[in-house]
Amino acid sequence: MLPPGDVQVAPSILAADFGNLAEAVGEVAGATPWLHVDVMDGHFVPNITIGPPVVASLRRHSGAHLDCHLMITEPARYLRAFHEAGASSVTVHVEVGETAALVSAARALGLGVGVACNPDTPAEAVEPFLDDVDLVLAMTVFPGFGGQRFMGEVLPKIARLRETIDARGLTTVVEVDGGIDETTAPLVASAGARLLVAGSAVFRDPRPWEAVGRIRSAASAAAGMRAAAPPTRSREEQP
Ligand code: DX5
Ligand code: ZN
Repeated sequence: MLPPGDVQVAPSILAADFGNLAEAVGEVAGATPWLHVDVMDGHFVPNITIGPPVVASLRRHSGAHLDCHLMITEPARYLRAFHEAGASSVTVHVEVGETAALVSAARALGLGVGVACNPDTPAEAVEPFLDDVDLVLAMTVFPGFGGQRFMGEVLPKIARLRETIDARGLTTVVEVDGGIDETTAPLVASAGARLLVAGSAVFRDPRPWEAVGRIRSAASAAAGMRAAAPPTRSREEQP
C-alpha cells in the first residue's frame, strides 16, 4: 500500500470546496497518489458529510488511491457501495465493534482495509487486527470536524503501534489524521507514522500541491528519509 521507506500525505477533501471537488483533486494529483475521503453519518460523529455517490464522482476525475475513512455506525451496510463507487480502501473505527467481520467483508470485496482508533482508545484495541489490515489510523483529533488542534498526547500510541508492527515484521502502514501541518508532521513521522492525512493545511493553502510537498518533506526528514522531489501541480507537468 505504501512502499517501505516512503512517507506520503493524503489530502483530506473535507477541507476542499465541495462545490469544486474536481478542481481540488486536480490541484494535488501531481503531489501525492493519495486522497482521503471523510465519510460521516451524524451518528458515530456529530457531523454529516458525503457517501458513495461522491466517491463515484471523485473516481471519474481521479486515479488516486481513495482512502475512505468511515466515521459511521453501520459500515457493514455500505462496504459494497463504496467498493462499487471506486473506493481503494476503507478504514473502519474499532469503536464501532465487529472489527474482524468488517475486515473480512472488506477484503472479500477486494478493498484495502484499515482500522482506526480515536485519541482516547488504547493501542491494545487495534493490536489484534494489525496482521490483517493494510493500515492502522491513529486519530490525532476526535473525529467529526476539520481544523482542530493536533493532540500531542497521541504520540506515544503512534510509537507503540510502530514498534508492534516492526516487531511482528508487518508492512501495515501507520496513518495519522487531524491537525497535521508542517509543524506537527515531523512529530508524527518521528514517532513512526508514514501516511499523514492533512485537510486544512493543504486546501486552505493557495497552492495546495506545494503544501503537500512541504508537509511530506518535513515528515521525510524527521523519519530519516531522503527528501522527495518537489511536487508539481498536476501529473501532466511531471517529467
Ligand atoms: C476529522 C477527519 C479528518 C479531517 C482532518 O474527523 O477525519 O480527516 O479532515 O482535517 P485537518 O487536517 O484540518 O485537521
Ligand atoms: Zn479522516
